[in-house]
Amino acid sequence: MKSRGIKVRKSEAESLRRRLIEMDAIDRELRVEKDGEYVIIPVKGDVKGYELIEWDFEKKEKRPRYQEIAEVPDELREYLPTSFDIIGDVVIIKIPDELEDYRKKIGKAIMQALPSARVVAADRGVKGEYRTRELETIAGEGPTETVHTEYGIRIKVDPAKAYFSPRLANEHQRIAELVKDGEEIIDMFAGVGPFSMMIAKMKNVHIYAIDLNPAAIDYLNENIVLNNVHGIEAINADARAIVRSLTADRIIMNLPHSAFHFFEDAVTAVDDGWIHYYEIIEDARAKERIEDLKELAESAGKKIRLERLIRIRNYAPGMGHYVWDLRISDEAINL
Ligand SMILES: C[S@@+](CC[C@H](N)C(=O)[O-])C[C@H]1O[C@@H](n2cnc3c(N)ncnc32)[C@H](O)[C@@H]1O
Repeated sequence: MKSRGIKVRKSEAESLRRRLIEMDAIDRELRVEKDGEYVIIPVKGDVKGYELIEWDFEKKEKRPRYQEIAEVPDELREYLPTSFDIIGDVVIIKIPDELEDYRKKIGKAIMQALPSARVVAADRGVKGEYRTRELETIAGEGPTETVHTEYGIRIKVDPAKAYFSPRLANEHQRIAELVKDGEEIIDMFAGVGPFSMMIAKMKNVHIYAIDLNPAAIDYLNENIVLNNVHGIEAINADARAIVRSLTADRIIMNLPHSAFHFFEDAVTAVDDGWIHYYEIIEDARAKERIEDLKELAESAGKKIRLERLIRIRNYAPGMGHYVWDLRISDEAINL
């Protein structure tokens, strides 16, 4: 059927698609169409700042939502989660206590509603220093190892063995866009490498990608080859033990429950540059957190200036996952 859409190069389609999702502008009843090196994304109406074209789109086959087909008693239906994570072909869902006995039925319904899913696993929480997830397969078969694609980057990971979250895709991309060619970067808690790989794909840089978890570093090394990116040095170590011996133009600190305890060590490695500092914190405390960071920086002989504070996502009621973009200099440089 004839409708309106935005024509974009394939290489830019993923980032546009995510921006349009945030704006709730995509017409989900129509298929994204291909035209040579371009794709055409169907949209619901005018989209500010974009040129629209007329296109003959195919209608999508309507699939039921999993909540509509899950075989659970009616009185428990209200507990069915409204969201889950999709990592490659593995779906990870938190099962509420009320629905524990029906978890396999829920898994089956998700497999029916999402034909691309190979395994559905119940998420028993992110645990320990390595931030890995305890998973129980509730539908489908095979390992929970998978390959996830984010902005054209392929990320191989088993979320039961190494941390990965599909919810930070925009953040990986945002940081990569801020980086300048030639920078020396420390990805202090690199995991399987989503920040490092996105940066290395877009810019010509050297990155120390550090992680304590040997399995994360093994995946990171595989992912470097899988994506044919250069300039990443994967290091299996405690970042605290080595960061003071390194120097960098930029440090990424995504260990949001405990990065604060590493900040003073990290800040010593930057004389004139940036730290992207992530923390999960009560919303009421987020704004004033900068004062604590300034104090730690001062005791390391550095000055910091807050350029940006962004609330990336909800974490729990009244709590968010935040990032502080901090400009760092030593006392001699006037910011
Ligand atoms: C929340 S994950 C973030 C991973 C990655 N940056 C991402 O966005 O997917 C934090 C990572 O820090 C690692 N980690 C925890 N303590 C560490 C330490 N002392 N030194 C280096 N890595 C550490 C964990 O193994 C985990 O992979």
